[in-house]
Amino acid sequence: MKSEYDCIAKIYDTVLYLVIKPIRIAVMNVLFKYKEKSILDLCCGTGNQLKLLSRNGFKDLHCLDISNPMLEIARKNGSQIKIYTENATKTSFENESFAIVLISFALHEKNRSTQESFIKEAHRLIKKNGFILIVDYYFDNKTAKLVKIGINIIERIAGKEHYNNFKGYIRNNGLLSLINKDKFKLVKAHKRLFNGVIVSMYQKTMTNR
Ligand SMILES: C[S@@+](CC[C@H](N)C(=O)[O-])C[C@H]1O[C@@H](n2cnc3c(N)ncnc32)[C@H](O)[C@@H]1O
Repeated sequence: MKSEYDCIAKIYDTVLYLVIKPIRIAVMNVLFKYKEKSILDLCCGTGNQLKLLSRNGFKDLHCLDISNPMLEIARKNGSQIKIYTENATKTSFENESFAIVLISFALHEKNRSTQESFIKEAHRLIKKNGFILIVDYYFDNKTAKLVKIGINIIERIAGKEHYNNFKGYIRNNGLLSLINKDKFKLVKAHKRLFNGVIVSMYQKTMTNR
């Protein structure tokens, strides 16, 4: 399967290191009390987030992505993470396979229908009363202007379709318009990167139908 990320896989972690590291730590802090639970990172890219969790004692870690070059980087350093090449809109896992599903920086760049498919698939995969943790952009009047400009530049460089999807995501109020309140209940949300990124945790309330 081809992905626009195939050609940047080798530089992805290095380019984003400084910006992303505090966000990875914030995610780990939110997840710490669920250290023994099964966690799936949907659209995991280079597996950078789960590698941090693995180094800090999390054991039952799984990740998937559509890009094999991104997953080749994820496989480096021989951690215990289970890695799968899969399409996040329709995975091969059984219903309710994981306690927690993480989606990090994968929604904003997709069109609305793919965003909805990611959330729907995550909901299907989460165990009863399990959690979804979503990390993505969130702009409001508290977001630092320089951060907005920086993110806009990065998203523009990523290509026209990607940029249009990003603009749509921000215009639609990001995650807030995507999450169905009948299916998920907000547990906590932390803003990061000068209020340009939000780490949101929701609990699954409605079971699969
Ligand atoms: C911006 S990167 C984010 C990677 C990682 N979650 C992170 O926080 O660094 C988006 C990732 O989504 C993956 N992706 C895009 N569409 C996908 C799909 N339909 N199924 C699985 N992965 C997908 C890309 O290959 C890429 O690795």
